[in-house]
Amino acid sequence: MLVSAKEMLNKAKAGHYAVGQFNINNLEWTKAILQTAQEMNSPVILGVSEGAGKYMCGYKTIVGMVEGMIEGLGITVPVALHLDHGSYEGAMQCIEAGFSSVMFDGSHYPIDENIAKTKELVAICEEKGLSLEAEVGAIGGEEDGVIGEGECADPDECKMIADLGVTMLAAGIGNIHGKYPANWKGLSFETLDNIQKLTGAMPLVLHGGTGIPADMIKKAIDLGVSKINVNTECQLAFAAAVRKYVEDGKDLQGKGFDPRKLLAPGVEAIKATVREKIELFGSKDKA
Ligand code: 13P
Repeated sequence: MLVSAKEMLNKAKAGHYAVGQFNINNLEWTKAILQTAQEMNSPVILGVSEGAGKYMCGYKTIVGMVEGMIEGLGITVPVALHLDHGSYEGAMQCIEAGFSSVMFDGSHYPIDENIAKTKELVAICEEKGLSLEAEVGAIGGEEDGVIGEGECADPDECKMIADLGVTMLAAGIGNIHGKYPANWKGLSFETLDNIQKLTGAMPLVLHGGTGIPADMIKKAIDLGVSKINVNTECQLAFAAAVRKYVEDGKDLQGKGFDPRKLLAPGVEAIKATVREKIELFGSKDKA
């Protein structure tokens, strides 16, 4: 059964560790992440962007696949199925389809509009027992065609949004999606510290988990980050492993063209990445 991310994140915040959100793209991705979380006895959040939602033939298809897999694979660790960077309409569609958690990303709206829309979703999610993530300060990089600059959120605005009763809050602290450029200045711990002081027990979310050095991840967790999103790193690992399989000519040997064989190295690479992140975030054995 899918669960809201509320309990796992409140526990993470209190226990000074973070739960990973790993974005999914298809059956192989989902299976690899669920199996690894189970093996590590860790709670997990499966992230779905609106683009990935379309790719996987709609939110209902995803709910069916994930719920079926939880049963079929005998997954007992807490699993939340979460919309990543949702629009208001996307969030409503996911709630309707049976997601257990949604993100409404109103960071590109003026703060009043972000507050008004987030507030409406707080009421709906509360009634249905779902977790809700809000965002202040756009995360840089490109995701589904939306390009942000990696700005730093205003701590007072963060407090205003946190006070609406959201479950968790994503705040820009100089982080960006995708690979970090060589001249990246690093995370703004000063901003994070100020946000955490004003928002107290609210679990904070760090987007753009790919490529952030381990010491920065640990410091961010110390300063109140309880959910860390990872997407690109799994994609890079998957692509490199499948590329190697093909370049080694393995698809031309015997039944090496069988998709279950062809994609297997990619699946193993995703598992290794997720395993490493669960260790680093400290959520192993916290199921
Ligand atoms: P990366 O692709 O940089 O890991 O970011 C993932 C993310 O923040 C999804 O919301």
